[in-house]
Amino acid sequence: MKLPIVIAIDGYSSTGKSSTSKQIAHALGFIHIDSGAMYRAITLFALRKGFITPNNQIATQKLIPLLSSISIQFRPNLQTGKLETYLNNERVEDKIRSIEISSHVSNIAAIKEVRDLCVELQRSMAKEMEVVMDGRDIGTVVFPDANVKLFITASAEARAERRFLEYQAEGKQVTYEEVLANVIERDKIDSTRAIAPLKAADDAIIIDNSCMNLEETVEKALQIIKQKLAVL
Ligand code: CDP
Repeated sequence: MKLPIVIAIDGYSSTGKSSTSKQIAHALGFIHIDSGAMYRAITLFALRKGFITPNNQIATQKLIPLLSSISIQFRPNLQTGKLETYLNNERVEDKIRSIEISSHVSNIAAIKEVRDLCVELQRSMAKEMEVVMDGRDIGTVVFPDANVKLFITASAEARAERRFLEYQAEGKQVTYEEVLANVIERDKIDSTRAIAPLKAADDAIIIDNSCMNLEETVEKALQIIKQKLAVL
């Protein structure tokens, strides 16, 4: 039996992985799955339960038993056709993108039980559909046999600038320095954690898009993917 195609797109925060993956999925007729949204949704859940203190201490032993009560789904918005994140049947797509969630998510994503839950969900979603999945460990841990693996990187300054402009456009009150600090801090936590650290798979193709815009990144990624898929 031929397994559905999986395209894994990993990389550093704010490299435009999600936007790039979305456009690639659209061009190929695949489904885009934003694995980071799952970690963000669990962070929102933990914050609401009061399991995260402002100085970033997590009540891990309180969170773990409740993980089995969490349902995360991606449902299409009927107007835009885009998939949106639902946490226990509540639409949380916008809430999970805040700087507050960004500042806690890497600590939540370092918890083994949280990763086990998300990885199981990610694998089950790719069983029946051809997917483009973006994240940190998709090519290394979730789908080590993915058909194509890309790893997107860019300088911390270029990434912080992009995320800062996004926040500004959304009217969010945050400074460039805060965004840069968050990008650097998350890079550090994500790449040094014990389980599934952020790193390029040995067989991933690396794209540094410090000097590329989204359109150029998508074009480059699609060119690589089409070449790879043609020889399969
Ligand atoms: O969009 P951005 O690059 O800012 O981050 P994201 O993809 O939404 O991921 C948010 C956080 O979730 C990351 O900083 C990681 O800590 C965690 N994550 C992970 O550990 N593994 C993944 N496959 C995806 C995200």
